[in-house]
Parts: sequence; structure tokens; C-alpha cells
Amino acid sequence: MGSQRSAELDDKLAAILAICQKMNSERDLGSLLDLIAREATHLLDCDRASIFLLDAEKNELWSKVALGSSEILRFHAAEGIAGHAVQTGETVNVADAYSDAHFYTAIDDRTGYVTRTVLAVAVRNQGGEIIGAFEALNKRSGVFTAQDEEALTALALHAAIAIETAQLVGELRRNQDELVQQNAHLWREVENKYASHGIIGTGHRIQQIVRLVERIRDSLVNVLITGESGTGKEMAAKAIHFTSPRARRPFVALNCAALPETLLESELFGIEKGVATGVQSRIGQFQKADGGTLFLDEIGDLSPTAQAKILRVLQERVLERVGGRAPIPVDVRLLAATNKDLEAEIGKGNFREDLYYRIKVVHIHMPPLREIREEIPLLAKHFLKEYCRESGRTNMEFAPEVLRRLCAAPWPGNVRQLRNEVMRLAACARLELITDEDAWEELPGPIGRDEPLAGPEVAQSLKKAVEELERRMIEDALRGTRQNQQQAARLLGLSRQGLINKMKRYALGG
Ligand SMILES: Nc1ncnc2c1ncn2[C@@H]1O[C@H](COP(=O)(O)OP(=O)(O)OP(=O)(O)O)[C@@H](O)[C@H]1O
Ligand SMILES: [Mg+2]
Repeated sequence: MGSQRSAELDDKLAAILAICQKMNSERDLGSLLDLIAREATHLLDCDRASIFLLDAEKNELWSKVALGSSEILRFHAAEGIAGHAVQTGETVNVADAYSDAHFYTAIDDRTGYVTRTVLAVAVRNQGGEIIGAFEALNKRSGVFTAQDEEALTALALHAAIAIETAQLVGELRRNQDELVQQNAHLWREVENKYASHGIIGTGHRIQQIVRLVERIRDSLVNVLITGESGTGKEMAAKAIHFTSPRARRPFVALNCAALPETLLESELFGIEKGVATGVQSRIGQFQKADGGTLFLDEIGDLSPTAQAKILRVLQERVLERVGGRAPIPVDVRLLAATNKDLEAEIGKGNFREDLYYRIKVVHIHMPPLREIREEIPLLAKHFLKEYCRESGRTNMEFAPEVLRRLCAAPWPGNVRQLRNEVMRLAACARLELITDEDAWEELPGPIGRDEPLAGPEVAQSLKKAVEELERRMIEDALRGTRQNQQQAARLLGLSRQGLINKMKRYALGG
């Protein structure tokens, strides 16, 4: 008797082990639940088996209605014999379902099934938390035995692990799908933004630039973009990259003026571990841009050593890390920008002529805004639309007199300054129509500078009025150059020290 029982138990254990192996290779939750139900039915020699999973947020239990079906049954987590097992964590073995107080007849009513005997155990995860119930129905002969209870409990333990793994995999897959979708969406946005180049302007000077960008779309020539600060050099570089065959490869921008000479080389080419104590190896911007585009901003500020190294990369398509021995092949398209006169720098011996011709295969010059005033209304409206879209406001508009003022202003900070001014006006406007009042009452600015001083300013002495004008111009220049004192000084025709002295006098800036 005892040995027969232990032989039976061995069989059951072997069967459970076999089921575990199958469960562990199933990663899809739906198929896994089917698999567990099917195997449990065999193991316990019963008519049906199902797993009920706890939806803790809704405090409900759910299960598949039948094997292979995708229909889901849901009910309150305390209902039925499964609910009872979940609530108490106890094994429930019922010989006559319809006479059991916990039995929930609604399921039979719905499915037309007649339940006689029920065995239910709680399903716990590895942390001991109850995540559902495992239920077997209608033992083929007699009632569920103590051995069945043990077998179902053992199976439930392993099922829990497989279920949690499948749930996790499902969640990862969903997150992954979401990311892929988001990424595709972002790409569409970027492409829309730059597909038409994002370069606004209908006059012949801007149109010439647009045509040039279109012409070089499929070639990978190096391009030099020149122009004053804020004229759209970086925008043009992005337009070139994002309409090129490299659009889905990286666009890496590096401002050569922002880095001291000592750091620039390792930033560009990377550095090998151990060059100095504590130095970790790091890849440089050239390698980050591999297969894509490297945009070197303010290229006129490169040191002679860095110039020589960049020339070598362009000629030989290999680079060497600081402290590195083996050359590393790279495939990078170079776009460069500067607001310096590079030919003059060559004359002064500050810039290599051979590098200049390498990067200037195509030359794009961005005109200052004062030379393309005809574009101001279109640009201003474009920036206003951008403001509305980003701030969720309804369509705002400029009153004609505001547009007139914008068209007449000097704009030393070029399109960037115009953009900032439009954003400021839009943010301060009380109504959808931006009028002269919004523009003038609270906001000192470049607008109207060409007009005679009005109002209280008439009463001021000439000296005061000049000081006021000077202060405003300095503020504008600093804003237009993003507080770059060097550039602001150049715009104002001052030396840097001269600018600093004046800033002190008017208590401006840091
Ligand atoms: N023609 C244009 N159409 C639309 N937007 C423009 C145009 N020109 C410039 N902009 C916008 O003006 C702003 C300044 O442009 P960008 O940063 O490209 O200037 P930059 O020449 O690189 O300036 P800096 O020399 O100061 O770095 C950006 O917001 C850019 O989108
Ligand atoms: Mg720039």
C-alpha cells in the first residue's frame, strides 16, 4: 500500500517535472495559460483546469473562458471558490459544488457547464505574494484526493514563475513596440521639419540657398557655411544632413570655440585609456558621427594642431586617438560653420589654406537679416505659429503696425534675435492680436529704434537719451548673441573690454 502510494507519487513528480520544462520554454502568456490548463487536466485526470490571475488594480480575477479561446472571464476577486482560495490562501477541495457556500453559479450559467467537484489552490509568486488561483473541475472518477491537492500545489508554484516571466516578457515587448513607434513618429517629425529644409524665405537670396541644399542632397561634399551670428548656419547644416542619405545616421555638432585647445583634440578624436593618470578611454566626436555628419561650428577657432589632424582625417579617412597607436577608420561627412573671414585668417597665418579648400567644396553664405528685410514678415509669422503650436494657444496674429516696426528694426542679432523678439511679444500679448501696445508699453527692444524718441523720453536730456539707447543696444546685442561678449562687442563695433566697461556702467549682465 505504502509502496504503491510512493510509486504513484514518483509518477506524478516526474509528470510535474516534464510540465515544468514545457512551461519554461513558453513565453507567450496566452499560450502558457492554455498549456498549464491542458497539462493539469491530464495530471489530475479531470475535466477542466484553469488559472485565474489577480488584477490587483481592479481587484478582479480573470481567466480565459476556454482552452485556445481569447475570450476573457472577469469577476470580483472575492467571488467563487477561486476567489475564496485567493482571499484565504488555503486549498479548497469541494465534493459537491452546488452545495458549497462559495460556489459562484454565474459562470456555469454563462457557459452551460455543470460543475460537480472543485479543487482550488492559491498561486503564489516567489515573494510569497498571491497572484491568482489554480482550479481543477470535475474529477473523472470520484473526488479530488489529497495527492491531487499536493500535485496542484506543486504545479501552481512552478506555473507562477513561468507566468511572471511571460508577463515580464510581454511587458518588455509592449514597451519595445511603443519605443519603436515613438521613434518612427519622431523621425517623421524631424523629416517633416527639415524635408522642406525648414529654411523659410521666398526672396532670391534664400531661394538660392534652398536650391543649393537641394542640389547637394545626394552627394556627400563638405560644406562651409558662413554668416554672422544668428543667421541660420546651424539650421542650414541640419537641413543638409536631414535631407541627405545620411539622415538616419547621427548628426553631431561641436562648437570648436567652446573648448580649450587642450581638450579639443581628445573631444574630436577620443582618448586612449591611461594617457594620464586616471584617464579612461573615450570615443571622440568624429567616431560618434561615423556614418553620419559632423558639424564643426566656429571652425575658425581651431588650433593649428587640431587643423592638421582634421585635414588628415579628411584626406585619409582614418583617425588616431590621443595616446592611441592604431589608426581607426571613420566615414564622416564634414559640415563647418564660421562667422570669421577665413581668407583673412589664412592671410594672417591662423588658418590652413589646404584645410580651407577641403571644407569649402561648397560654400553657403547666410545673409544678415538687414539684407533680406523682405523675409521679415514671413519669418515673424512662422515663429509666431511655432509659438502657438508649442504653447497650445490659438492662432495669434500681428497687427500691421507691429509688422511694420519689425521690418524696420536693425536686428544686429539677425534671425535668432527676431525669433526671440517674436516669442517675447507672443508671450506678453494679452489678446490674439498682437498690437503696438503689447510691443511698446512694457517691452523695450529693438523695435522702433529707427523712429524718433517719443513720450516721456522727449523730456530727457540728450545725454540721457543717448545712454538709454546705448544700454538698449547692448542688451539686444547680448541677447542676440546669447550673452557671448566677444560676438556682442563685434556687433556693436566695440572692443571686448570696451563692452565690459559699458556693461559695468549700466549694471548689465554678470
Ligand atoms: N531662414 C530661416 N528660416 C527659418 N528659421 C531660421 C532661418 N534662419 C535662421 N532661423 C532660425 O534662427 C535661429 C538661429 O539660427 P542658427 O542657430 O542656425 O544660427 P547660427 O548662424 O548658427 O548662429 P550662431 O553663429 O550664433 O551659432 C534658429 O532658431 C533658426 O531655426
Ligand atoms: Mg550656430
